[in-house]
Amino acid sequence: MLATWCEVHQSSPTHLLLRPLSLEFFIGKMETYFLFIVSLCISALLLPILTSKPKKKLPPGPIAFPIISKYLWHRKSFPDWSLSSENYMPSMAPSSPFLLATASPSSSNQHDINSAPYGRTWRLLRRNLTSEILHPSRLKSYARARKWVLGILITRLQQSSNTGDGIVRRVLAGLLRFRKLTLWPALGKILFRKQWEEFLQLLNNQENVLISLIRARQQLKQEMQSKQNEADSGSEKESGGCVTAYIDTLLDLELPEEKRTLNDGELVSLCSEFLNAGTHTTSPTLQWIMANLVKYPHIQTKLYKEISSVMGEREDEVTEEDLQKMLYLKAVILEGLRRHPPGHFGVPHAVTEDAGGSARPGNGLGNFHLEYFVDNLIWHFEWTAVDGDDVDLFESPLSALIPVAMKNPLKAHISPRVKQGEDTH
Ligand code: HEM
Repeated sequence: MLATWCEVHQSSPTHLLLRPLSLEFFIGKMETYFLFIVSLCISALLLPILTSKPKKKLPPGPIAFPIISKYLWHRKSFPDWSLSSENYMPSMAPSSPFLLATASPSSSNQHDINSAPYGRTWRLLRRNLTSEILHPSRLKSYARARKWVLGILITRLQQSSNTGDGIVRRVLAGLLRFRKLTLWPALGKILFRKQWEEFLQLLNNQENVLISLIRARQQLKQEMQSKQNEADSGSEKESGGCVTAYIDTLLDLELPEEKRTLNDGELVSLCSEFLNAGTHTTSPTLQWIMANLVKYPHIQTKLYKEISSVMGEREDEVTEEDLQKMLYLKAVILEGLRRHPPGHFGVPHAVTEDAGGSARPGNGLGNFHLEYFVDNLIWHFEWTAVDGDDVDLFESPLSALIPVAMKNPLKAHISPRVKQGEDTH
């Protein structure tokens, strides 16, 4: 551009005279521009330092460059994610590329436990779950529900019926399908509009189901409260008529940062998280453990002998008290979890403050349920491999964010060991 400018002005002597002056003028201008750009860069670098709050020591996370990191992470395979999780879990840097855009509407803008950044809201929600629902002292109060579920499971196994595909399961599986929406959410919504609408529709269906259950529970609680007020006694509660439901603990909870109670969307997200976290861990692990017991019949026989020695002459259901006496069972469950953990990496969290260590909140209840169901299933039925089927213990290639499922779901022959239909209905 400078050369062109010179050639044009060489044609006239006056312009020749003017030339050095104009060049100086041009260079002077360039210097001004240069200085302007340099000072802009320095200000951009200094701004975060000058405006930042005193730095807290945060746990390590992957290096995050705007835009580039997201793209690179999306290209990674799930085994790569899982390798990185070994270095950085359980927490990730604030701009963690793991945080999915599709997770945002499904978590009501990170107002559930597994997607909230480590901070006051996360602590409140997690403490509520662990102390109000998952605490070992609550274990007994769910005995009736457990027995009811066991009854359904045994009846279904006897009828060899299919359990079908629930809506919560479809939302969870969908999160993986809708992953491409997450790269640049604003753009994704426009480019993949149909998929985005499909995803929102799925969430909407879930919300309708859960909201109607929440309302029904609220109404029941009010009715029970007014009955109790009339009778002016707490005997109904103590007789086991009322069990604390998770939703009961959420209704009066006040968010510490926003100073308000939870709205409908947030209640739905938390209830959905509760259902997912509780079932999509326990249920696939139960299947893996049963598959191992079919594949290795000598372990099943040893477990059955342990159950028989505790049950003696009894033929009813294995109870919570019985489970305490079964050490081999505990080893089977722990080995099952070791060989087939329901997820390959922990739950990624952004970090606003160091929140200390995080262990599996559902540890006690989850393991207990596995013990209860494995024992009762072995107590009620003998499980054998289908002829010619070696029981394939390969994982489904789709096992990633969703629980680690079997590539070929377990097929087995079951033959009743005890009189059916007794005491489990
Ligand atoms: C055998 C059953 C279970 C297994 C193997 C299991 C496993 C896990 C694992 C590995 C994590 C990630 C922990 C981390 O990254 O810090 C987790 C998180 C979680 N689990 Fe479970 N879990 C089980 C049962 C349950 C149950 C019954 C519930 C309650 C309904 C539950 C609720 C949660 C929640 C809310 C989180 C998120 C915690 C957080 O992000 O702070 N889990 N679980």
